[in-house]
Formats: sequence, structure tokens, C-alpha cells
Amino acid sequence: MRSQRSDEWPCTKGAALALTVAGALGLAACNGQPKPGTVLDEAMRAKRTAASFPAADEDYFHDMDGALPLTKEQIEGRNMWIVWTGGNDRLWDVLSRESLGSLDFLKTISSHPTLPYSRDNRWNYLGLVNEPCFKKATGPDPSHFGLWLDVRDPACGPDPFANADKYKGVQVGARGKTVPVGSYYGEPSGVVGLRLLPNPDFDEGARKKWDSEKYYRDATYYNSRNLVKPYRIGMSCAFCHVGPNPVKPPVDPENPRYLKTVRGAGYRFEIPKGE
Ligand code: HEC
Repeated sequence: MRSQRSDEWPCTKGAALALTVAGALGLAACNGQPKPGTVLDEAMRAKRTAASFPAADEDYFHDMDGALPLTKEQIEGRNMWIVWTGGNDRLWDVLSRESLGSLDFLKTISSHPTLPYSRDNRWNYLGLVNEPCFKKATGPDPSHFGLWLDVRDPACGPDPFANADKYKGVQVGARGKTVPVGSYYGEPSGVVGLRLLPNPDFDEGARKKWDSEKYYRDATYYNSRNLVKPYRIGMSCAFCHVGPNPVKPPVDPENPRYLKTVRGAGYRFEIPKGE
């Protein structure tokens, strides 16, 4: 049996010996795939060293766990837990294409009127924790390719982790051309644990084809596995591991706040409205 297509079972053209050798080398190497352990990730392709990814030291989440005083290392650890997504935005982007859009976090974080969910019911509908300091999108955001993404409350100031000078992102593909290089912590999305990173595949061709209204309304368009979206979504540990404080549940779970508690003063309960 001999395959016509070069990506199908080229190993079968050999004899038993070849198969044994292929087995020893790893079949992956045989069918044209690179050998495990030899693939460079985007950071390595961009010649970035570990030292060029310093841990963020801003005590931005200070009020989160009852305003505990933390050391610098603890602050860095908490930040990593909440905003570092370690390059997995690439994986989630592949999965959104391979699943034909059935898992698409860029939609998850959107509040377009055609969707059954929005920032208003994310906790109830999807079980996701809204990030404080954001408001629901009321229209397409021209600074985010027409997507209906949560809008940051200007009173909160900028998210320190999105600082592209201090935490310069990995410059590959279209980054720095059609999309910004951004920060390696991405931008906040309005959902705790999901971060927005510029998609390095969003080149000039993809930009010309991009239509944000079709992305929300036209199934042929958004189900296409060739669709290249302007962002990839990264997932931090906190995406699954954040939750409301069980002894001080938020008054409105769709609009949680980081609740400061004075240490030693005991727990304060926020009583849900109407009770
Ligand atoms: C996709 C959701 C998800 C993400 C992302 C995630 N976790 Fe988890 N994690 C879980 C679940 C679910 C469990 C419980 C598994 C079980 O008990 O079988 C768990 C369990 C754990 C535990 C064990 C807790 C215990 O009490 O035994 C640790 C520690 C942990 N995760 C750390 C992390 C770290 C660190 C990260 C980020 C690098 C992370 N998790 C990211 C879903 C997630």
C-alpha cells in the first residue's frame, strides 16, 4: 500500500525493518512531523530568554484576599496565578478552530446582543467570575477590531500587566505590524483568568477578511476553520481557581468587588440585597 498524499502514512512504503526503525525513532518523525522535544515555541523562535520575562511585582490585587499584607515574592506569585498564561493562547486558538468554533473564548468574553450571555449573566450562565473595574460593552469597540468586549472603567486606571514597555510581548508573525506586540501578560478581558493577546497570524490578508459583525452573526463566516481572529485568548490558573469568598459572598455575583477586610476584625458578611 502506498499513499498518494505525502502526509498519509508514508511509513507504510517500507518493510518490517523500516517500521521497527521508525518505531525506534518515533513515528511522528516518520510522517513528516517534527520529533518531540525539537519544536521551538514562539518565545524561543523570537530568541527570548527566561530572564526577559520578569515576574510582575505590582500589588494590584491587594484587596483580593482580605487585603493580606504579602511579601514581594508572594505578590509576584499571586500575579502569576491570575494573569500569566504561559503561551497557552496558541493552544486555545488551535482548539477554537479544530472544534469549529464550539469552543471560542473570544465569544465567551463578548457581550454582543446575538449571544445568549454577556457580562450581565456570566456568573449565572457560564459560571465565570467577572473582573472588577469593567463595564458591559454597549457597542463594537473600534480599538479592539469591532469586538464587543468589556470596557475598562477609567476610574481604575490602566491594568499594570498590560504595560507593553515593561512586559514586552513576544514579537512573532504579525505582531508589531497589523497587531501590536503587546504585553506577555496580554490585556485584561473582563473575565478573571482570561487574557487577550494579539494574534501573530492576523496578517494583512486576515485583517482584510475580518468582519466583526459577521463574526457574531454569520455562521458560515465564524464556523470557518480558516477564520483568523485578531486575538488569541490565554488562560491563567485563576480562570478555574478563582471564586467568590464563600463566607463573604458578593452582593451581586455578576459585579463582584475585591472586598477589603481589616485583619483581626473578624469576617464581615455582605448580605445579599432583598434579604
Ligand atoms: C481548566 C481549569 C483549571 C486550570 C486552568 C487550572 N486548574 Fe488546577 N485544578 C482544576 C481542577 C478541576 C482541580 C481539581 C482536580 C481534582 O481534584 O481531581 C484542580 C486542582 C488543582 C490543585 C490541587 C488542589 C488540591 O486541593 O488538591 C492544585 C495545586 C492546582 N490545581 C494548581 C493549579 C495551577 C498552579 C494552575 C495553573 C498553572 C492550575 N491549577 C490551573 C482545574 C484547573
